[in-house]
Amino acid sequence: MGLQAAFDLLLASESALDGLDALIWQSLAAAATSAKHPWTNGCLTTISTIDGERPCPSSRTVVLRRCDVAARTIDCHTDVRSSKVNELESRGGAVCWLFYHPSTKIQLRLQGSARVVNDKQADAEWETVSLLSRSAYLSVETPGKAVSNPLPPSTEDRFVEQAESERGRENFRLIRTQVETVDWLYLRQGGHVRASLEYGGKGSVQESWLVP
Ligand SMILES: Cc1cc2nc3c(=O)[nH]c(=O)nc-3n(C[C@H](O)[C@H](O)[C@H](O)COP(=O)(O)O)c2cc1C
Repeated sequence: MGLQAAFDLLLASESALDGLDALIWQSLAAAATSAKHPWTNGCLTTISTIDGERPCPSSRTVVLRRCDVAARTIDCHTDVRSSKVNELESRGGAVCWLFYHPSTKIQLRLQGSARVVNDKQADAEWETVSLLSRSAYLSVETPGKAVSNPLPPSTEDRFVEQAESERGRENFRLIRTQVETVDWLYLRQGGHVRASLEYGGKGSVQESWLVP
């Protein structure tokens, strides 16, 4: 069943609010394992600064790579030298994820606290990174650094053999977000609906409908 159909079915039940948390996490878990799922790509926002002072949100597309339903965490991959790592670490981990795909009319906003992970799980994830994708972790210079070359630097210059690609492991990390709040909005044809979920200690969840 597609994402939208699953939420339609839930909304047809009398206890839709009770089932919302489970369906959202079931969908995130599906997105983390299928490149075709509408929530495969998310937008991750950290808090950056302009002129080194003024706080300013900074968003970028990332791929949802892992989802731990029981722990309510979601992961993406990153180069440890990227701006997002510095931004989340200097802001106590504050992040916001946004998932939206036009085919579904469902927007999911997740706020929480993120940390950088470099453990055995990261080792295992690195093994799943394709040779082509490993080129993203092989820059000598810091990602995002301005260059004065006449031509744009490209990862194409870093397409290497498997053995050499292992060098990228030192730059590879997971960003793990502990989700604390969810804002779910569905622009349903029969009328828009919106709900919020708040996670407390010991797995508690507080659900409420919101005025859309
Ligand atoms: C479709 C798509 C998927 C992407 N996935 C990731 C990802 O999973 N992790 C990542 O660090 N950057 C990913 N990027 C690149 C980021 O959007 C961003 O440009 C890069 O991480 C640098 O961001 P930063 O300088 O704000 O840290 C992706 C970009 C696109 C267009």
